[in-house]
Amino acid sequence: MWEADADDLFAGSSDRGNGQGAPAERQVPRAVTTELTSDDIDVERSLRPQSLAEYCGQERVVENLSVLIQAAKARGETLDHVIFSGPPGLGKTTLAGIVANEMGAKLRTTSGPAIERTGDLAAILTNLEEGDVLFVDEIHRLNHQVEEVLYPAMEDFFLDIVIGKGPAARSIRLDVPRFTLVGATTRTGLLTGPLRDRFGISYRLDYYSVADLSRIVQRSATILGVSLDADASAEIASRSRGTPRLANRLLKRVRDYAQVRAGGKITWKVAAEALSFFEIDELGLDWMDIKILQALAVTFRGRPVGLSTVASAVAEDPSTLEDVYEPYLLQQGLIVRTPQGRQATLAAFEHLGVAPPV
Ligand SMILES: Nc1ncnc2c1ncn2[C@@H]1O[C@H](COP(=O)(O)OP(=O)(O)O)[C@@H](O)[C@H]1O
Ligand SMILES: [Mg+2]
Repeated sequence: MWEADADDLFAGSSDRGNGQGAPAERQVPRAVTTELTSDDIDVERSLRPQSLAEYCGQERVVENLSVLIQAAKARGETLDHVIFSGPPGLGKTTLAGIVANEMGAKLRTTSGPAIERTGDLAAILTNLEEGDVLFVDEIHRLNHQVEEVLYPAMEDFFLDIVIGKGPAARSIRLDVPRFTLVGATTRTGLLTGPLRDRFGISYRLDYYSVADLSRIVQRSATILGVSLDADASAEIASRSRGTPRLANRLLKRVRDYAQVRAGGKITWKVAAEALSFFEIDELGLDWMDIKILQALAVTFRGRPVGLSTVASAVAEDPSTLEDVYEPYLLQQGLIVRTPQGRQATLAAFEHLGVAPPV
């Protein structure tokens, strides 16, 4: 489901050290939270671009997809299967919807963990109509038996289903309408080789530039009917961790602040005040990012540490750490990966306001 993105666990608030290096231990992000209310879901849906033309940023992906979609349509064929990978909130689900819209196809949505048995997959596939786009979110979480059934469906559009058990078991072959599978995953490395090989088209989404995020925030403000100055959108963008989902969330919180404290108009000054009121980190780091940096800088005193050690220090799952948190910290130069492990950089010490070890 569009709403049930596991990545909505992605936190948006920050909990910085207070400049004296005291680890902030607050576990619950406050103002900009990740918990989706029904209102949030509606807003996310209304802000979701519906076409490639509305999709800001990721130019290479957009241009590329546009060519492939035009070509497939001109030949009257379905688009080859597509996989989108990248950290949460960068627009994978959005692109799946856009692919369906641009192909003039119907979108069916499910997710890896939702397809428990091969029978579930068979039901989904045999109910498709010719040309449908099937979006499988978190596709790396499909179980093996289901994956095995999916291979021939992707490649040759048939299913082999075993009915019954023991000597009475027999296998039947079912045809599947030609469809396009669109998969999303936080990391292509999590896919099994055979599954990865069956996607003809593969895109990795990167963090957005401040300029692209500014455009996204401006577009959202227009849709929400909020008056937003250009330098205010840049301010929000620069604290959005390269992530459109977070940019939209910050915009909504700034709008709330502006409504109550500033008559609704968001100037740069109002945006800056609001962001500091909600304690948004200048880099958009959330409390878990800060906790990771503090573990590396303070607990481990800047020494290199293995992934599982960091994970247990911050009580987070190692793969979540690797897929969700590390990419941005690495991109920002706050941590490095050395052969000995993860290490806080000088920039991290500076950001935390902690003196580096001598
Ligand atoms: N390129 C983009 N342009 C405008 N808005 C975007 C873009 N990418 C994502 N968004 C916004 O960010 C939100 C999260 O995107 P989503 O597709 O759910 O991310 P993912 O599936 O990668 O976690 C969407 O609701 C949408 O409003
Ligand atoms: Mg998603």
